[in-house]
Amino acid sequence: VKIGIVGGTGDIGEGMAMRLSTVFDLVVGSREQDKAEASCTITRETLKNRGQECSLCGVTNQDAVDGADVVILAIPFRHVVPTLSTLHGFEDKIVISPVNPMEKKDHFVFVPPPEGSAALLIQKLLPKEARLCCAFNTIAANRWKALDEELAYSVPVCGDEEEAKQQVMGIVNRISKLQAFNAGPLAVSPQIESLTPLVLNIARYNRMRDVGIQFR
Ligand SMILES: NC(=O)c1ccc[n+]([C@@H]2O[C@H](COP(=O)([O-])OP(=O)(O)OC[C@H]3O[C@@H](n4cnc5c(N)ncnc54)[C@H](OP(=O)(O)O)[C@@H]3O)[C@@H](O)[C@H]2O)c1
Repeated sequence: VKIGIVGGTGDIGEGMAMRLSTVFDLVVGSREQDKAEASCTITRETLKNRGQECSLCGVTNQDAVDGADVVILAIPFRHVVPTLSTLHGFEDKIVISPVNPMEKKDHFVFVPPPEGSAALLIQKLLPKEARLCCAFNTIAANRWKALDEELAYSVPVCGDEEEAKQQVMGIVNRISKLQAFNAGPLAVSPQIESLTPLVLNIARYNRMRDVGIQFR
């Protein structure tokens, strides 16, 4: 499987690249190819110093879509509409949204668009042949980057197309100790996306670090 990350130079994108590129062929996208290449150089050096092999290259966001079977949209919610308006070629691709529409006020608040969730808005913006799933919403970027530690979390995955969802769950299950759970159709995405502000509030009000979720 070849995975592309749109916005792969950001916090979550870089963290994901450090883990995904040791298992899959990865293309890291950015609005600026130079920025993507610089980010890949850092990831490559980090992994080389740990004696780990990796496969990744830095490209434009459009090349990350074109060159991948599975595209992860690692962009802040407020940039989703403008970013997707500049990209094409999502037909038949599996698209993963880790996007959580939320704001920090006194506490963290889930602020979905009128569609109900970021994923449901993204579904409207993508061609109908795109195979959209929600995954990776609740794992913090710093956990992805803490390479000495296993990622021992549960990952709820939702989507309307069963085969695409199974493929995404297969990808999740190959990373560290992540465990994928089928959460149902894309209509469940508001519930998944709203877990993250909850987790951040739990961390804040209980003075905890690295709060994650586990289903058992
Ligand atoms: N951070 C976390 O711990 C975490 C955890 C779970 C889920 N998520 C979700 O993952 C997504 C990405 O989060 P993040 O923290 O990685 O975000 P981020 O670091 O703030 O940004 C990610 C990337 O988005 C691109 N970007 C920035 N401004 C843009 C603009 N105006 N137009 C288009 N692209 C722009 C940038 O890439 P280029 O400049 O290279 O184009 C940037 O590197 C969010 O939706 C978030 O809810 C984050």
